[in-house]
Amino acid sequence: MSPSFNVLLGLLTVLPHYYLAQAAGFPAPLLEPLLEERQASTVPDYVTTYAPVVWLYSGETYFPGDLAAQLTNTVPEINYKPITGYTTPLTLNNLAELNAFNGTQVYLTSTVDITTNPAWLNGVKPDSTGKTEGATSMFVIVNDHGNGEVDAFYMYFYPFNWGGIVLDQDVGDHVGDWEHNMIRFQNGKPSVVWFSQHSFGEAFTYDCLEKQGVRPVTYSGNGSHANYAIAGDHDHTIPNLNLPDDGLLTDFTDQGTLWDPLLSAYFYSYNPSANTYTPYDPSYPSNWLSFLGAWGDEQYPNSDPRQHEIIPGVSATAKYTSGPTGPEDKQLNRTKVCPTSNEFICEIHTKLGP
Ligand SMILES: *[C@@H]1O[C@H](CO)[C@@H](O)[C@H](O)[C@H]1NC(C)=O
Ligand SMILES: *[C@@H]1O[C@H](CO)[C@@H](O)[C@H](O)[C@H]1NC(C)=O
Ligand SMILES: *[C@@H]1O[C@H](CO)[C@@H](O)[C@H](O)[C@H]1NC(C)=O
Repeated sequence: MSPSFNVLLGLLTVLPHYYLAQAAGFPAPLLEPLLEERQASTVPDYVTTYAPVVWLYSGETYFPGDLAAQLTNTVPEINYKPITGYTTPLTLNNLAELNAFNGTQVYLTSTVDITTNPAWLNGVKPDSTGKTEGATSMFVIVNDHGNGEVDAFYMYFYPFNWGGIVLDQDVGDHVGDWEHNMIRFQNGKPSVVWFSQHSFGEAFTYDCLEKQGVRPVTYSGNGSHANYAIAGDHDHTIPNLNLPDDGLLTDFTDQGTLWDPLLSAYFYSYNPSANTYTPYDPSYPSNWLSFLGAWGDEQYPNSDPRQHEIIPGVSATAKYTSGPTGPEDKQLNRTKVCPTSNEFICEIHTKLGP
């Protein structure tokens, strides 16, 4: 199609919205329908058609888990002390009430000592169809930037992160683990896919990725659940430089258990200016998305006998670190495909790699 034909087609699609908005007395930018008009009331079909499938590691013991179960197995604490005075029971429909208690200081803390290995930390192993039966563990958030550019965040939830072994010692274990892929669509076609890895990540063109049908494949690191585009060992000791060898910090991935997160998922559209989430189905809880606190225990102090620092005094080398914040903190309105951690070197790989 010629560019001028595209413009004509665009005008024909957009003008009715423009005049409708004018008639309703709302100012409308020319050439762009209102966000409310663009937001479909059902999940855009391309968001499900191109949803990633996830290979979990063959030796994985910490599977994806049910988000609501995280609330029944924890209590909110500030400064290691349970808080009181909130609506009970806490559910995905009232969790953000906790924001009134210095929200960012709230840690959803396991009710039992996690060193006793309570079973809920292990999540739910996907069955032979790839489903985490009874456990809703993916949350898809759609941000329509306008001009045909739509980001779909596929947020994966795991009840526990096993950080791995460094210099023969456990490091970086924490309750609660949020990871994600983000697919940037242009006019309903997937263009680039972001893979979250620890505090960083990688971007690849959709075209170069391994696929099952049209669905991109992601490999989840053993325990850490960092997302990689190819199977194998991933040395991530140096941020943003992934090497295929075993280094100080290595993620192991392979085709262990196939997880199809679409089979147990909730879907939302996101309005960045209002910072609100609209569930595509009224049965999907959405209040929890505004919760500002952490989805796991606060890093245990060094006085806690469970705690241990590989390098004494360096809290980042602790055996147990703090639980993560939720999707709200994942830069849902990012301009580049990469979040700010990778903004300056937002390299979009056109070939598969570690
Ligand atoms: C995979 O993770 C489990 C803990 O969940 C650990 O025991 C095992 O050693 C890990 N495997 C590798 C290869 O790191
Ligand atoms: C919030 O934090 C402030 C400053 O740390 C403290 O004075 C206040 O008591 C806290 N409020 C609650 C409800 O925890
Ligand atoms: C969201 O990002 C777009 C650019 O894609 C920007 O124009 C807009 O101002 C941002 N909205 C907010 C609330 O930051």
